[in-house]
Amino acid sequence: MDLNGAVAIVTGGASGLGEATVRRLVGRGASAVILDMQVDKGEILAKELGDGVAFAQTDVTSPEQVQVAIDQASSMGPLRVAVNCAGIGWASRTINKDGSPHDLDIYKKVIEVNAVGTFNVLSRAAGAMSKTEPDADGARGVIVNTASVAAFDGQIGQIAYATSKAAVVGLTLPAARDLAPVGVRVCTICPGVMDTPMLALLPEDQRNALAKDVMFPKRLGTPDDFAALVEAIVTNPYLNGETIRLDGGLRMPPK
Ligand SMILES: NC(=O)c1ccc[n+]([C@@H]2O[C@H](COP(=O)([O-])OP(=O)(O)OC[C@H]3O[C@@H](n4cnc5c(N)ncnc54)[C@H](O)[C@@H]3O)[C@@H](O)[C@H]2O)c1
Repeated sequence: MDLNGAVAIVTGGASGLGEATVRRLVGRGASAVILDMQVDKGEILAKELGDGVAFAQTDVTSPEQVQVAIDQASSMGPLRVAVNCAGIGWASRTINKDGSPHDLDIYKKVIEVNAVGTFNVLSRAAGAMSKTEPDADGARGVIVNTASVAAFDGQIGQIAYATSKAAVVGLTLPAARDLAPVGVRVCTICPGVMDTPMLALLPEDQRNALAKDVMFPKRLGTPDDFAALVEAIVTNPYLNGETIRLDGGLRMPPK
């Protein structure tokens, strides 16, 4: 898929991995709509990147808000790229120290944002892409989701997060199969430990401890490492239905 002249949407595009993705796609000639709930950061980024970049205050769990943002993107040209980066984390064990169960509302909330939100954007973006003219290969668009290595190596306290990210891995192949007839590819990236505002909440010694389990290179991943893989997926027409770990060889221990 040629990025030059394409329109992209990026959820969670105001921060971290999503922000780096917006910067890279726009740097390659795409227009973009940033879908996020952080109004200040989203508007500042859109303004910085100039014409061809818009911010749409959007909660990815809302069908109405996502549809408005996708319609806005489609009014800028053919929607070709949708990148799902919006996500939330939560640390809590299946049972608490006193034996009481994990808060069920929090468990549902993490799944609602990370899994249902991803599907809400994916299905609506695919609908818009299906109405565009295909390129010479019959391709109409590419959707990139963000899961996590926690989908496979969920740690102690990651029960809700790991469940939600496993759902994103699980929807990747059937979505690619459903959307093949309209020429839309679907891939998912599973980042390891990436240096973003989500991780910056941790003290430095904990961040260093996370990096020590990375095989090589022995450092946290950067948002641009992620954005580079998004670009590779979008521009390689033969990548489809695949989940790719982006983790420097990290296999997360139980804790
Ligand atoms: N940073 C890491 O180490 C890491 C590792 C694995 C996976 N991930 C995943 O990568 C994605 C991006 O994470 P990040 O590290 O860039 O985090 P981040 O907190 O910097 O960015 C996440 C963005 O998502 C937005 N968001 C949250 N809920 C939303 C909602 N309901 N609707 C719209 N926007 C919403 C936030 O406002 C924020 O701007 C997440 O899905 C996260 O789970 C991150």
